[in-house]
Amino acid sequence: MSERSGPRYDAVFANVNLATMVGGYGEVMDGAIAVHHGRIAWVGARREAPRAAVIHDCDGAWLTPGLIDCHTHIVHAGNRSEEWEARLEGASYEDIARNGGGIMSTVRATRAASVEDLMRVSAPRVSQLLAEGVTTLEIKSGYGLNLQGEANMLRAARRLGELLPVCVKTTFLGAHALPPEFAGRADDYIAEVTERMLPLLAKEGLVDAVDAFCEHIGFTYDQTERVFAAAKRLGLPVKLHAEQLSEQRGAELVARYGGLSADHLEHLTPAGIQAMAAAGTVAVLLPGAWYFLHETQMPPIAQLRAAGVPMAVATDCNPGTSPLSSILLAMNMACTLWRLSPREALQGATVHAARALGMQDRGTLEVGKRADFALWDIARPGELAYAIGFNPCQAVVNGGVMRER
Ligand code: NIG
Ligand code: FE
Repeated sequence: MSERSGPRYDAVFANVNLATMVGGYGEVMDGAIAVHHGRIAWVGARREAPRAAVIHDCDGAWLTPGLIDCHTHIVHAGNRSEEWEARLEGASYEDIARNGGGIMSTVRATRAASVEDLMRVSAPRVSQLLAEGVTTLEIKSGYGLNLQGEANMLRAARRLGELLPVCVKTTFLGAHALPPEFAGRADDYIAEVTERMLPLLAKEGLVDAVDAFCEHIGFTYDQTERVFAAAKRLGLPVKLHAEQLSEQRGAELVARYGGLSADHLEHLTPAGIQAMAAAGTVAVLLPGAWYFLHETQMPPIAQLRAAGVPMAVATDCNPGTSPLSSILLAMNMACTLWRLSPREALQGATVHAARALGMQDRGTLEVGKRADFALWDIARPGELAYAIGFNPCQAVVNGGVMRER
């Protein structure tokens, strides 16, 4: 490309192998990538690389899109290590929830915390993800279960996204569990969620998407549909904790609403798979929760693959079922426990995770996409899902700005 007639570039990352994630890994060996105004402006072979104001010599590292953790409950107070010990002695997750523990014990701790408290206790978990190359992070509410508590969680999530080098997408999960004030009155709580909490939080600009827990210990199909209808009235996209512990036809429901994703899916049926495939709803796989709950029924990976449903992989970082703040370990678990290929696991934390958040401006290395990258000291991209508890991330680039680790 001629320098005089061509566009100008802010920076070029050269001497680098690219996993563009276009059509698989989309490798470009000995490549280069140029950025301009925070976006990717040129991708190709090093020998054809354009000039730029700044040249980063990446010393033969691999460069991938910044990783995307598309399902977390990372903002919360307290932890549930005692509950975990009780589960190791035989109590079930459902028993603990029915006896007022589980999600409700995190609700008590979270309601007692200020926005600043929530930020302080959540920031180290977020930092852990950022050190592994995460540049976009979804954060759900769902441990406040009243207007004030949900607002605090979502405000903390937004503020973390302002303070730390990461894009935060917020999801309102008011329909996560029935708060004690509404015991025996689940329909009334759903009315509170749909008629008061969601509209007010959306008006404050705190809600990017709406989620619910459609489960026998959560909310019914009909109650979930009321939440989706309210989201639709406000023009907000939906996603769903679906078929995690039992079959509820949640995947079909969220697909019918053109949902971004159906998440968990251990008890997903063929009808659910077909509905998701037809609607383009992403399957978000959360192996950390499956591992930590010691579940045995796996999501129907081979059938999802055969139906062409895009599969994302996320941490589900939460204190009850997945105290996991490593996206690389989530990718490893998806491979070792569920037989995803390392390529599928990386797609699941990049291009398909972007789609699960409705963020088509990222997730691949293509001209026009956001210049969010992770640089890795690895010999091949399959290594990212391979190591257990080792982090080969050398540097992270957010909107074209490089941060060394
Ligand atoms: O994604 N399934 C419901 N929600 C969380 C767990 C919440 C909790 O136990 O605190 C999940 O697994
Ligand atoms: Fe979850």
